[in-house]
Amino acid sequence: MTAQLKTNALEAFFMPFTANRQFKQAPRLLASAKDMHYSTDDGRKVLDGTSGLWCVNAGHCRPKIVEAIQKQAAELDFAGTFQMGHPKAFEAASRLVNIAPQGFDHVFFTNSGSESVESALKIALAYHRARGNASKTRLIGRERGYHGVNFGGTAVGGIANNRKVFGNLVAGVDHLRHTHDLARNAFSKGEPEHGAELADDLERLVALHDASTIAAVIVEPVACSTGVLIPPKGYLKRLAAIAAKHDILLIFDEVITAFGRLGTPFAVDYFDVSPDIVTTAKGITNGTIPMGGVFLKTHVHDALTQGPENAIDLFHGYTYSGHPMAAAACVGTLDTYQDEQLLTRASTLAAYWEERVHTLRDLPHVIDVRNIGLIGAVEFASKPGAPGERAYTRFVKAFEKGLLTRQTGDIIALSPPLIITESQIDELIDIFTAVLKDSD
Ligand SMILES: Cc1ncc(COP(=O)(O)O)c(C=O)c1O
Repeated sequence: MTAQLKTNALEAFFMPFTANRQFKQAPRLLASAKDMHYSTDDGRKVLDGTSGLWCVNAGHCRPKIVEAIQKQAAELDFAGTFQMGHPKAFEAASRLVNIAPQGFDHVFFTNSGSESVESALKIALAYHRARGNASKTRLIGRERGYHGVNFGGTAVGGIANNRKVFGNLVAGVDHLRHTHDLARNAFSKGEPEHGAELADDLERLVALHDASTIAAVIVEPVACSTGVLIPPKGYLKRLAAIAAKHDILLIFDEVITAFGRLGTPFAVDYFDVSPDIVTTAKGITNGTIPMGGVFLKTHVHDALTQGPENAIDLFHGYTYSGHPMAAAACVGTLDTYQDEQLLTRASTLAAYWEERVHTLRDLPHVIDVRNIGLIGAVEFASKPGAPGERAYTRFVKAFEKGLLTRQTGDIIALSPPLIITESQIDELIDIFTAVLKDSD
């Protein structure tokens, strides 16, 4: 095989979270993008109904972000941030804490959501140890939670397929039950009525393990990757109160919900619940350059910085923490969000979005439609013996008809860029309605 052929073949790339052999027989290739649309390699326009992968909140190839990255690449390609620094990383951090919820005055940079989660979990352990509570090491996650794919995140995560192949992962982990309850909450608009009492699972785990062994509880305010599980009314407040009572750090994994997805800058603002640590990634650079950020409340930061001034505060970090290109992309992204008021734009679209998404409820095999902010999900009855197939075929058909969606199990999630217009919402729903009518 020549070098040219080798480069062009699809074979070499072992793709993540993909049925590689199936995909490579009928690939779906995106060649370029602008604003609300992708273009495929054969020149078809595809409406982006899922912000790339929940990350392109401001739409594609936005000028200020492109320019910031180009300029930075030519000016300073790399500079480390271990006992060194460069101005863009500090600028990005200052800009980020300015839009972060009250009390979050520091941010630790990573390169992905998974790394943000690992960093947050380690920071939680370091926090308790610094305060003399070294026995507080247990981590609590939630069934159906998704916290990325590294060992810590997979351990606190609750998606069976992501866990079962990999052994015991991290020791000393337990899980709350998930809150998805179609029997009581199907077709809810916004936060469902029933299930706040499930937060009391944390009390149950405290009774079982003792609070002196528990460091942190981590949840997604809205569990998106597992199919958009929206917290029942009052659930997050109740969970926060129990965590605070037992000196358990509450970590909100806002890798998806941060940067305007719910119509507020962070989900913390939307639910008016204040955790101790918030993990982010994705929208932090509008998906352009890999970056994540872990936001720390003052008490967490201060506990880690009480040693001698010449002592390293946290023995943790990444070569690319605060990478110049990512930092520049972050600043360009925040400029774009600010110029176009995108961090609150979903709140003005939410009512229209809700009305249009719920028109899907009577289509074949639909067993639930749910929504919050600029997120929607449609759940289908599984085909006997073929879980996931119904949503997968609809995802493929939608792509063929010019709409990108995201499939997980028998659920299709919708989360378009925050720049979407009402007529583009109509277009999205019209394409999806046609797909659902036309599928068995
Ligand atoms: C809540 C949450 N945490 C963590 C991650 C992992 O992020 P990444 O894929 O950037 O590692 C994701 C990705 O979708 C996520 O939704």
